[in-house]
Amino acid sequence: MTPSHIAFIMDGNGRWAERRHLPRKYGHKMGTEALERTVEAAAECGIKTVTFYAFSTENWSRPQSEIDYLMDTFRKFLARKNDYQEKNYRLVFIGNLGKLPQDIADSCRDAMARTESNTGLTVVIAMNYGSWEEITSAVNQLLAQGKTQVTEQDIVRALYTSTVSFPDLVVRTGGEIRLSNFLLLQSAYSELLFTDTLWPDFDKKELKKVIEIYSKRVRKFGGLGGDHVEA
Ligand code: FPP
Repeated sequence: MTPSHIAFIMDGNGRWAERRHLPRKYGHKMGTEALERTVEAAAECGIKTVTFYAFSTENWSRPQSEIDYLMDTFRKFLARKNDYQEKNYRLVFIGNLGKLPQDIADSCRDAMARTESNTGLTVVIAMNYGSWEEITSAVNQLLAQGKTQVTEQDIVRALYTSTVSFPDLVVRTGGEIRLSNFLLLQSAYSELLFTDTLWPDFDKKELKKVIEIYSKRVRKFGGLGGDHVEA
């Protein structure tokens, strides 16, 4: 079965550039092209939602020049939001937008509002996102509402991802095997896939490969799996 929602940890941009003796920012430039390719390929493959980890709450510790380059990349991406509107895609930004430069945060909110009722592919971009920050923010939101006890549904609704499904599959490129503070609650029962492919090399062929691997996985959600029959 094709996954309905795939979340990507886009790792390996820096190494892709370094291997070619190019500045790291060139890797992010090619990584942006890979993101755009993957969005189109996902729509063509019938996927409903894609999430991309673009900037984590920990990425602020990178050199200022790299942060500035990434912020400019986000500005350029946001400037093309009309393309997403024309394609009927819904854009969702998750993370603490308040800590991003004001113009980027405003632009994210505007893009979300404009595309909110679109019915095509949902494209989720995690910006200044970290699961620990998300959970802390959710708890504070619930306390501010005066709650002294909460249900699982209260927590789901207070997360940045309240309007999107949980990922069926989390893919990390770049060869590292960890989740790096990404969708920790939402991926509780996601399938995980780690590939050595560096993110700038990711394309439709790679996407089809990960869909194929996913389709062979048996998801049991703590049960015994759909095909289990009583002996
Ligand atoms: C991790 O690779 C990648 C990032 C921290 C940035 C990802 C951002 C983009 C691909 C830009 C596109 C985003 C949008 C929304 C247009 P790394 O730099 O840590 O790679 P390395 O491990 O090889 O050094």
